[in-house]
Amino acid sequence: MTDRRPDKHDPTSVGEGTWAVHGGNEPDPGTGALRRPLVMANSYLLPPDPSGMDWSNPEGLVYTRTTGANQQALETKLAALEAGEAAIAFATGVAALHAVFFSQLRAGDHVVVSDVTYEAVWRLFTELLPARYGVEATFVDVADLDAVRASLRPTTRLVHVETIANPTTKVADIAALAGIAHERGALLTVDNTFAPPPLYRPLTDGADLVVHSLTKYINGHGDAMGGAVIGSADLVGQVRADALADVGGVISPFNAWLILRGSVTLPLRLARHQANAERVADFLSADPRIAFVAYPGLASHPQNDLAVRQFGGRGFGGMLAFALDGDAHLQNAFVARLRVVTSAVSLGHDESLIVHVAGNGRGGAEHYPEPFQRYGHLRLSVGLEDADDIVADLDAALDEVMPSGRQG
Ligand SMILES: Cc1ncc(COP(=O)(O)O)c(C=O)c1O
Repeated sequence: MTDRRPDKHDPTSVGEGTWAVHGGNEPDPGTGALRRPLVMANSYLLPPDPSGMDWSNPEGLVYTRTTGANQQALETKLAALEAGEAAIAFATGVAALHAVFFSQLRAGDHVVVSDVTYEAVWRLFTELLPARYGVEATFVDVADLDAVRASLRPTTRLVHVETIANPTTKVADIAALAGIAHERGALLTVDNTFAPPPLYRPLTDGADLVVHSLTKYINGHGDAMGGAVIGSADLVGQVRADALADVGGVISPFNAWLILRGSVTLPLRLARHQANAERVADFLSADPRIAFVAYPGLASHPQNDLAVRQFGGRGFGGMLAFALDGDAHLQNAFVARLRVVTSAVSLGHDESLIVHVAGNGRGGAEHYPEPFQRYGHLRLSVGLEDADDIVADLDAALDEVMPSGRQG
């Protein structure tokens, strides 16, 4: 913030929260409405002579597979949120990830990928892209910067990481990884789903493209799916040119409208998710019935120092992983007894969600830290409920399934 008068149109004059609320919001040019109305049209009126038109121009409203009024409004908002020049909205987070890889990689290219990564990315780089398109991938512990450096080849085109990795919460040092990738002429692409703004903006630390599952925190209400790619106008333009209109993973106008609506309260929601997650992480890590807790805000987390430095006091996200000291049946019995927290996949919703993942249940699980392999884990997306209720729910369910382990 500067000492200039705050102006909602100027990110350098206002705080993170003000910008997250106002950035990218534009009154509707047609009606003057402060919010872009929902435009459920798949086609727009053509000019009298369309013969010279560039059909794929993202500025031109022609056909919704290329762009539409609600997609444009959401993209403007996302670029503002992540401090990017441009953004594209996709139907899902996986469609956005695929679009980045599909548009940036050629046969013979090499990719360095975090050894803890979202399942779909794991499969894309272990099976689909190598077998069908001749892309080579090396999975590396991105917390070991020397190992990352050593894994780069002359053919390495990109390094792909998650700021806070799903599910182990491993934290990637984005500035350092950007430096390593750029030294060797590679791009750094970052999935920032677990650490959305205002918590963190990877582009400001040198990442080239940021990907989000909008399904999660940015929408925040568990009622829509979407994905996004954000970055420089040049790179985002390449993704748009090769992986949107002719591949087809476009977001629907209604989902774009819902997600834009949800995004405006992101700073407020995130603050609450994070405060609640810190409470839950402290509670769980103090309880002897719990085998382990992974949360970047805990001093016991292997990248806690990095998280403190990189996130600059803005928090540590709302996601944690833990396990009860017992077998898979015990984890299931615990989940079954919860009365506030809901058993479901997905994350970043208003309500707390928990999912039990067995030790060997996912692609790449052999790279997870030892306790994850031994106990499996419960992935908990801490919601917006009262922290007291979430903690009391976890505590009561623990008492029911592990009565003998009660503290005090
Ligand atoms: C880190 C991360 N990236 C991407 C995705 C995929 O997003 P979507 O389900 O919107 O395709 C997920 C989904 O859980 C995720 O957790």
